[in-house]
Amino acid sequence: SKLASRSYRLFLVTAVGYCSYLAWTICSTEEKPKPVTPAAEKKNLVVLGTGWGSVSFLKDLDIDNYNVFVISPRNYFLFTPLLPSCTTGLVEGHSLMEPIRNFFKGKSAVEFYEAEATEVDPERRVVHIKRNHTIQGEVAQSVIPYDMLVVGVGADNATFNVPGVEEHSCFLKNANDAQKIRNRITDCIETALCKGRSSDEIQKLLHFVVVGGGPTGVEFAAELQDYYKDGLRDRFPDIMDAFRITLIEALPNVLPMFSKQLMDYTESTLKAEAINVLTKASVKEVSKDDIRVEVTKPDGTKDIQTIPYGLLVWATGNKQKGIIENLAMRLNKQQDSRRGLVVDGCLAVQGAHNIWALGDCANSKLPPTAQVAHQQGSYLANVFNAMARTPSSGGPEVQPFDYNHQGALAYIGMDKAVADLNLLGFNISSHGFFTFLFWKAAYLNMCLSARSRFLVTTDWMKARVFGRDMFRE
Ligand code: FAD
Ligand code: NAI
Repeated sequence: SKLASRSYRLFLVTAVGYCSYLAWTICSTEEKPKPVTPAAEKKNLVVLGTGWGSVSFLKDLDIDNYNVFVISPRNYFLFTPLLPSCTTGLVEGHSLMEPIRNFFKGKSAVEFYEAEATEVDPERRVVHIKRNHTIQGEVAQSVIPYDMLVVGVGADNATFNVPGVEEHSCFLKNANDAQKIRNRITDCIETALCKGRSSDEIQKLLHFVVVGGGPTGVEFAAELQDYYKDGLRDRFPDIMDAFRITLIEALPNVLPMFSKQLMDYTESTLKAEAINVLTKASVKEVSKDDIRVEVTKPDGTKDIQTIPYGLLVWATGNKQKGIIENLAMRLNKQQDSRRGLVVDGCLAVQGAHNIWALGDCANSKLPPTAQVAHQQGSYLANVFNAMARTPSSGGPEVQPFDYNHQGALAYIGMDKAVADLNLLGFNISSHGFFTFLFWKAAYLNMCLSARSRFLVTTDWMKARVFGRDMFRE
């Protein structure tokens, strides 16, 4: 029919267009090897971390100007925005990881150590590092001297000292966390399917509780509900009546950083998807089998509820890492460092010499997002490139960092997304299916490598055609 041939032609045009785009990005990102030898006259620049901030810095830095040492416990960059999709097998973890050495191919002046920085000593200008081997345990401790230090170590998960959280819940910050959640989901389902389970046991095992109604919690709950609708419901009809997701948020609304209209839209969409949204509810205690939640009722009185769960995912935001707290304590002008190292307008750490901080470990009064960390990395690389061009005159005139907020996007399930965008100075709110298509295109475009873009697209197509892979690894 006419419609079929038109759809076929549209598909062909899209496929050819996308393949050309991929070929173009692969060609344009391929770098020719350019060997450089570390030189005594160059300054030692030490970069901590291989996340959004540090990688964006390294990508734009003219590396030949410095002897660069990169230190991070993981030898890859992780594309966090699609991490919730990994928990349910829509996207594979390795598709979101880019080997860090790919970012400085052929540049011998860059040395990468897969190790954890344990302490920064600003008086001696050294960083203490520790390398753990998977089997042998701790194998090496070293001291790396720096002339200039860029700190981009990210943040840890906030637990607000709620008892039991560390022991019994899963977080969602890195690739291992996503794999752990994926294993636990499979574990709950397989246990519920095992012969002889009582109905109460099945109800508990298939109750998935998410604490924190920020974007991490909402996106995970949405992905899990999609997984239920895309596969679980039809594959395991005997037990799936018991499948439930509860999203718990202490504030009156989920996604509090979005406009009121989008908050309401998100809440009603989640409810339509049969996700139980519990707002004005604060988790006070977690045990192996259940959580205790303080719920504020409409009349203002409070009620304590005990909720059993099979899997608990804890997504209540960030807290600073030990290394950052320790460094802040050693410096003056860091009284306000609860949200990270206090930096000036040019990202230099207050009270320190030749230390800069960016991303989630810096308190620059901006939200802890990839968008901010990425822009800060590019900005700081330009500052360093300018400093290398004018070494003797006390440094160049540096303009302070000027953040360009492009908007916020979040996936909310059932092929719908919400977006608060800033286009040419206008604020535009949108939601629904077309926003979801925009969300997909925007995140594909945000991937830092053509390899990652290719793998993510293939994963999406594979899941559409063959369903999601959910093995326990
Ligand atoms: P990270 O990207 O976390 O990188 C920190 C790096 O430091 C890592 O390489 C780590 O291994 C390394 N490191 C840690 N400890 C040490 C140490 N002791 N020594 C040396 N290195 C160390 N933001 C958005 O703008 N849009 C989104 O859609 C979005 N989605 C997200 C989804 C999820 C699930 C999560 C968790 C976050 C999301 N974010 C998003 C937030 C975004 O990921 C962070 O703001 C961003 O990663 C911060 O970048 P960073 O470089 O500061 O830290
Ligand atoms: P968040 O800080 O944005 O939200 C955490 C939520 O948990 C808050 O709304 C808080 O009220 C709630 N909470 C805290 N303690 C609680 C308790 N005991 N009981 C119940 N609720 C409790 O944290 P999130 O979602 O982890 O995000 C961290 C950062 O990463 C944010 O800056 C966010 O903007 C960014 N991010 C952005 C995404 C996007 O743009 N799509 C996706 C994921 C993260």
